[in-house]
Amino acid sequence: MGDLASLLKESWSLVEEHQDKVAGYFYARIFLRYPDLRDLFPVQMDVQRARLLGAIVTAVQTLEDPERFDEYLRALGRDHRKFHVEPEHYEVVGGALIESMRAFAGEAWSIEYDQAWADAYAVIASKMLAGADADPNPPYWYGEVVGHERRSRDIAVFTVLPLQPLEYRAGQYLSLECPRYQPRLWRTYSPANAPRRDNTLDFHVRAVGAGWVSSALVRRMQVGDMVKLAAPMGSMTLDRRSTRDAVFVAGGTGLAPIKSLLEELTRYNRTRWVHVFFGARTREDLYDLADLNRLAARYPWLSVVTACSEDPTFPGEQGYISDVVAKYGPWKEHDFFVSGSGRMVKATLKRLAELQVPSVRIKYDSFTD
Ligand SMILES: Cc1cc2nc3c(=O)[nH]c(=O)nc-3n(C[C@H](O)[C@H](O)[C@H](O)COP(=O)(O)OP(=O)(O)OC[C@H]3O[C@@H](n4cnc5c(N)ncnc54)[C@H](O)[C@@H]3O)c2cc1C
Ligand code: HEM
Repeated sequence: MGDLASLLKESWSLVEEHQDKVAGYFYARIFLRYPDLRDLFPVQMDVQRARLLGAIVTAVQTLEDPERFDEYLRALGRDHRKFHVEPEHYEVVGGALIESMRAFAGEAWSIEYDQAWADAYAVIASKMLAGADADPNPPYWYGEVVGHERRSRDIAVFTVLPLQPLEYRAGQYLSLECPRYQPRLWRTYSPANAPRRDNTLDFHVRAVGAGWVSSALVRRMQVGDMVKLAAPMGSMTLDRRSTRDAVFVAGGTGLAPIKSLLEELTRYNRTRWVHVFFGARTREDLYDLADLNRLAARYPWLSVVTACSEDPTFPGEQGYISDVVAKYGPWKEHDFFVSGSGRMVKATLKRLAELQVPSVRIKYDSFTD
């Protein structure tokens, strides 16, 4: 794969500088030839103009050994069914990708580059197609919003009832589209409850700055609206065989998967001590504290520590949750679960490394890069 990898990198470097224009050309090629494909993409293409092109280029270039990424690519293929991607679309997209790079590279482009991209794309596409083909599930599930509660200016907790049962494990996440307000924009959210008999799923969502989907989910969505949900993903799940005590560290709505894991523990745990660290900027953002405290009052193995980083009169801990965790401990023998913004997760992982918590004992989900 060495030669192929260097051909791919070398050829991409010829057009990288004009990435935005290459993306424009790439989509234009696809939509001119196959206008129907326009309907697969979000209405406002400028929002994430280079998303698909960027994703493919990254996949092709970083997946130097496609066998190692077999499961990832199969999952990506399964997931693409939610975009209504059909097998024949792969060829169209692969062709447009190479044509657009060729158009911008000019004289420097060579037949070897054509071949390198065609080969690498074909391997990846075939793995994605195999994953899609083998999936027994529907491409997505419809669900009705059966509860919606604003917990703060920016946070809502809502409940969705899928029209068909949707299996997932506590701690996983799934992608969600709200066609009424933001058609064809999918984002990932983590159910905040362990699977229930009535199949309902709770979600905790924070509207981020200029966020397209999150602000619609928090500020516009109402009971009775329909959403689409796609297959569960993620591995931040409990190992039932572990006898170690556990620490859950949540920042803001990062609490969602943590609460789901906690709920699962309430169904069988008798022997493990569990410590929850829940942090936010202000007390208003500790939007689910009442429920957490109720759980802690009911289950003697559970303790909850809260912290605010921008609320000097808050009676709990002061500061970032990553620093607060480090004040407690020792933690060398614990299983860790960390969830929140990219910044919060990164800071917590750094702290845990300093405390010599082995990385194999840490599972985490980061909401942003
Ligand atoms: C595995 C996983 C699980 C997730 N689970 C949840 C969950 O349970 N609850 C939840 O509220 N969110 C969750 N998220 C985040 C969610 O998927 C979206 O990224 C988020 O709601 C923003 O989407 P948007 O369309 O509103 O923003 P976009 O329109 O995609 O982004 C708008 C702008 O906001 C910035 N931005 C995006 N996300 C954040 C953020 N979190 N903080 C600050 N700035 C941001 C972007 O960089 C961009 O500049 C999860 C993300 C991942 C990867
Ligand atoms: C090698 C082949 C491909 C790879 C590696 C790839 C990879 C990706 C990735 C990583 C994403 C972002 C995932 C997400 O946000 O959930 C994405 C999004 C998407 N892909 Fe693909 N993809 C491929 C082929 C295709 C094909 C053939 C189509 C059909 C037209 C397609 C349509 C889409 C659409 C519609 C989106 C959402 C785009 C958006 O929100 O702007 N992809 N792709």
